[in-house]
Amino acid sequence: MKENIVILTGAGISAESGIKTFRDSNGLWENHAIEDVATPEGFARNPALVYRFYNARRAQLHEENVVPNLGHKSLAQLEQHDGFNVAIITQNVDNLHERAGSKKVLHMHGELLSALCRYSNQRTYYDADFDESTECSCCQRSGGLRPDIVWFGEIPMYMDEIQTLIEQANHFVAIGTSGQVYPAAGFVNFAKQLGITTTEINLEPSDNNYLFDHTYVGPASEAVPRFVSDLITNKNN
Ligand code: OAD
Repeated sequence: MKENIVILTGAGISAESGIKTFRDSNGLWENHAIEDVATPEGFARNPALVYRFYNARRAQLHEENVVPNLGHKSLAQLEQHDGFNVAIITQNVDNLHERAGSKKVLHMHGELLSALCRYSNQRTYYDADFDESTECSCCQRSGGLRPDIVWFGEIPMYMDEIQTLIEQANHFVAIGTSGQVYPAAGFVNFAKQLGITTTEINLEPSDNNYLFDHTYVGPASEAVPRFVSDLITNKNN
């Protein structure tokens, strides 16, 4: 029988791919206060700064060193294995899981490569700079497009789908997340209540580590392939 594996990823899985994590730089994200660049209030206060900030993050995805690492790649390989149904729920707004080959990826905090039109609520794939002057392709008006990122105080995406995935899971895995931002941080509690096996993979055990049945400590590029290899070996035995 196929095993349903639900994997929550955070900034730690992309750290070795040249994308900084959030909580290792004194609460600053790429030298900016989170309240300035990741809240609706910050956007209302200084939209030009916020557009510029996300344009830079989007452009960073094209940098030579920003490529999927063995952590992303081994999850994509696991998805190819006949014995498992794999779903990735990511808090990351980069596209490294997709570039590694993963097909089932839910970006619960939004995506850099998407723009949201505030007039129509439509989402458009966007791999270029945009700002207040950019005309939206859905309504041909300017001023409506905003980064398609779930900011603090906004509701994460796919919550119903995520609940169903966890309810149907045999194994819940959290990789490279500090477990400080809800609701994602609460998924492990939900999985525990349902009696599902839980595994944490992190450079160092998170504050939530006591909620996990198994722990793999190490950088994602080493610890995730080790976990995937153990999972496949156990399945075969
Ligand atoms: P954090 O920056 O809070 O945590 C990163 C985690 O990755 C920490 O637990 C580190 O120990 C771990 N880590 C660092 N390098 C690693 C490596 N090479 N291999 C494995 N683990 C490593 O990032 P998130 O938990 O993803 O929200 O943060 C959650 C949310 O808070 C983000 O999605 C973002 C942020 O503010 C929004 O933007 C809405």
